Order: sequence, then structure tokens, then C-alpha cells
Amino acid sequence: MVGGRDGPGEGKATEGMGRAGYYDAHSEYQRSVADTGAALIDRCVAATPLPEAGESYVVADYGCSTGANSIKMVSRAIVAVRERRPGIPAAALHNDVPTNDFNQLFVNLVATPGSYLELDPPVLPLASAASFFQTAAPAGSIRLGTSFSAAHWLSSQPEVVVPQGFYFSEAVGGARDALGRQAAQDWTTFLRARHAELAPGGRLLVQMVGTTDAGEVTARRLLHAMAEVGEAMASEGIVDRAALDRYILPVYARTVVEAEHPLHDDAALAAGFTIDEIRVDAVPNPYLEAWQNDGDNAAYAKNYAAFVRGFTESNLRLHLFAATGPDVDTLMDDYFARLEARFAADPVSDRFEDWTLTIVVARTAAS
Ligand SMILES: C[S@@+](CC[C@H](N)C(=O)[O-])C[C@H]1O[C@@H](n2cnc3c(N)ncnc32)[C@H](O)[C@@H]1O
Repeated sequence: MVGGRDGPGEGKATEGMGRAGYYDAHSEYQRSVADTGAALIDRCVAATPLPEAGESYVVADYGCSTGANSIKMVSRAIVAVRERRPGIPAAALHNDVPTNDFNQLFVNLVATPGSYLELDPPVLPLASAASFFQTAAPAGSIRLGTSFSAAHWLSSQPEVVVPQGFYFSEAVGGARDALGRQAAQDWTTFLRARHAELAPGGRLLVQMVGTTDAGEVTARRLLHAMAEVGEAMASEGIVDRAALDRYILPVYARTVVEAEHPLHDDAALAAGFTIDEIRVDAVPNPYLEAWQNDGDNAAYAKNYAAFVRGFTESNLRLHLFAATGPDVDTLMDDYFARLEARFAADPVSDRFEDWTLTIVVARTAAS
């Protein structure tokens, strides 16, 4: 069943993405997703009330990782704000878990051409090292909140037994119900925290992995392949069988109905937010498109496996391979080499399919 192992250590869902630039170098897919939300940033900025003269317009990005995508999106928002009111004081708050590689975020901020750091008057960069399931910004301070490819992470590692696979969509019975409940609680908690942080009239734009009305689940094929590779290693005795049965990637792909639910059913959220937009869209796979153009199986497999490693390594290390033995690094390398070989042998079957859930909500003035 799902437990609340929230403390530091073994209950963590993730300690962050690949460090020292690894995630940034292998997150083309996440960049494609964020690009689909870029026009919405302009619309959100146009819709938010500007602060009193002399006060700052603060943009917060929740789940920023090492920042390549975050810097681009926040920069776009601040440029749009300054088109509305030239020279308005502005601040950018980048949020992620305390173990995130924030050093790399600031390295990127300095190195990225066109980043908001080049704007005049200067924009204040800020880091918020806190779970986005808690307070992550001062109350009422945020005009625009964004979150890209992050709010699908659960708040803690679920305590379920899912021998059928590595993903919520493979769970059955009580385990499936418990995962749905945890995802619902987490989303409600996320929205309550953002409600407290947004200024009246402020906008929150969230993009996360989704599930279509037809039941198509983002990343299901990938997680099936990952589970089969784990199964092969368990059969060879090099991965702990009990850890494999308990292992699940703590990511939940919501439907529109699930995402809307607390905004209708939770009294405070229903009064506190109105929904501007909500939808699920397929986002094309940049790795598969490149392979369709060049037919280079090896390059496709290398890039796809690196993309997967960028966002799964921290969790696999904590919750699957740590139980197996001391040489976690060797096991991780072996695991991803097997995954890469599988992708190279058949680029299509295990392809990553993405249906991104986009939601924009406005914080009401009265609540
Ligand atoms: C796939 S990355 C997305 C990064 C970036 N937004 C992008 O679009 O490239 C997901 C990020 O969410 C962060 N994350 C997961 N759970 C979190 C939490 N509870 N609080 C804050 N950040 C969290 C992870 O640490 C990671 O950096």
C-alpha cells in the first residue's frame, strides 16, 4: 500500500535529474514539451495583473532541474512582462528539491545566450530548494508560476507490490487504487501550495505527462521495456527479486478528469482557482523522428537510453539497485547498456510516446 515515507532517505521519489549537465544534454524531449507551452506563457503574462509601481513581477518555475529549459521559459516570461511595462522590476525563482544540482543551474544561467541575466534593468535570480509539495515561495508573491515535466512525480516512493511492471498503469486491485489515491492527494497538495504563493489574478501553467481519454498512457511502452530488462537481470540473479517486485517509477500520468477533480471537488481550490485551459496533446518524439530521417539505430538507441537515464537514474539507484548490492554504479551501467541494446535492435516497439497534459489556472481575486 502507499505509505508516507516522506523523511529524508529511502522514501524520496528523486534526488534530482542527471547532474553536471547530463540532464540538460539529454532532455530534448522535455524541451519539445516545454516548447509546446511557450505560447501559453505569453498568454498567461498578458492575463496577469501587473504589480503596483516599484514592486517586482516574480516568475516561479517549479521542478526546474539544472535549468536549461527553465531559464528559456522564465526568460520568455520576463521579456513578455517588460513588453507590457518596460523596465518593471522582475525576479526569477527556480524551484527544485534540495538535492538538485543548483550549481549547474547557475552555471547555465551565466552561459546561456539570451538568458534573462542579460536584461536591463537586471532580473534577480533566486533559488528555492524545497519540495513543491510544500511552501516553495513567499505567500502571495508569484505572478506567474510554471512547471514543466515535473508535477507528475509523486511526493514519495509508493510502498506497493507491482510484480507486473514498473508503472502505475500495470498495477492492479488495491495497489492501483492506492497509486491513484496518492496521485490525487499529491496534486491537491501541489495546487494548495501554489494557491498560497500566487498573487490574486496570477496564473499557474503546468505541463506534465498525461493519459488520453482513450487510455493512452505516456511512457507506457518505455516502462514495459525497463521492467523486462529488470526481469532478465533478476532471472540471472544480479538484481534482487523482492526489490524488483516492489519497484515502481513514482510518476503518474493523469487524465484531464483526474487533473480537474480537485479544482471542482475541493472547496478551497474550487473557490481559489478558475481553469483557463486544460487539454492533452501528443508531443512528437525527437529521437524517433531523427531515426526516421537517418536510420541510425545506434545513435537513436544511445540518445534514447541517455534521455531515460537522465530522469530515472536517481530513483532506480535509490529504490531498485541499492537493495541489490554495493556496486550500484556497475549495475546501473549494465542496466542502461541492456536497455540501449534493446532500443537499437528494435527502435519502434519500445518507443517513447508522450501525451502531455497542459493546465492553466487563474488564482481568483477574492479567495
Ligand atoms: C524531468 S525534470 C524537468 C525539468 C525541467 N522542468 C524541464 O522541463 O526540463 C523533473 C524535475 O522535477 C523535480 N521534482 C520532482 N519532484 C519534485 C518535488 N517534490 N519538488 C520539487 N521538484 C521536484 C526533479 O528533481 C526534476 O528536476
